[in-house]
Amino acid sequence: MRGHLRSPDVGRFHRFARLYDRVMPSADAAALERGLAHADRDVERILDVGGGTGRATRALGGATVIDAADGMVRVAAANGDQSVRGVAEHLPVRDASVDAVVVVDALHHFADGDAALRETARVLRPGGVLVVRDFDPRTLRGRALAAAEHAVGFDSQFYTGDDLSDRCSAVGLTPARSDGGFSYTVAGVKRRD
Ligand SMILES: C[S@@+](CC[C@H](N)C(=O)[O-])C[C@H]1O[C@@H](n2cnc3c(N)ncnc32)[C@H](O)[C@@H]1O
Repeated sequence: MRGHLRSPDVGRFHRFARLYDRVMPSADAAALERGLAHADRDVERILDVGGGTGRATRALGGATVIDAADGMVRVAAANGDQSVRGVAEHLPVRDASVDAVVVVDALHHFADGDAALRETARVLRPGGVLVVRDFDPRTLRGRALAAAEHAVGFDSQFYTGDDLSDRCSAVGLTPARSDGGFSYTVAGVKRRD
């Protein structure tokens, strides 16, 4: 866990936290709701993993923010959101205890995306859903974004929607695409074995 907390991306977000909400637009609530609609159970308890200052949490009207950057967690708390410092690769949450996990503009910053997906599968209840919003590195804007993030020192690793869908399948989440293009949504529903 300490290694993930020290990753270069987390350090940058820690330092940038107080400015973050001033430069970011609101999260796309409609896209998130379309993703959550894939759940095969009622959705009450939601985790916003890599949730930062709580942008997606506020778009959804409530969730628990988990983020590795202390500064981001503090701003989320000041915004009135329930927030916990922790890493996506080792979620501080019991097995099968949440109905949905959302990951917005964050998966490409995680040190180990596959470990984060495995953790998500562990904490979801059967029928619960993971909703990832991220950027397609094959699009023109996606290539430009990846180049810009690397140029300023981020260690970003972007997945295509197809690649992410395959990775969801591998951890027991049945994938569905609800939005495509530069900014895409992949939902993954925890299988009822
Ligand atoms: C671009 S911000 C997105 C924040 C928020 N989801 C949003 O949409 O505004 C990426 C966030 O991922 C967090 N992050 C990076 N690596 C992480 C990890 N391994 N575990 C948890 N959070 C992480 C960063 O601290 C940062 O707050």
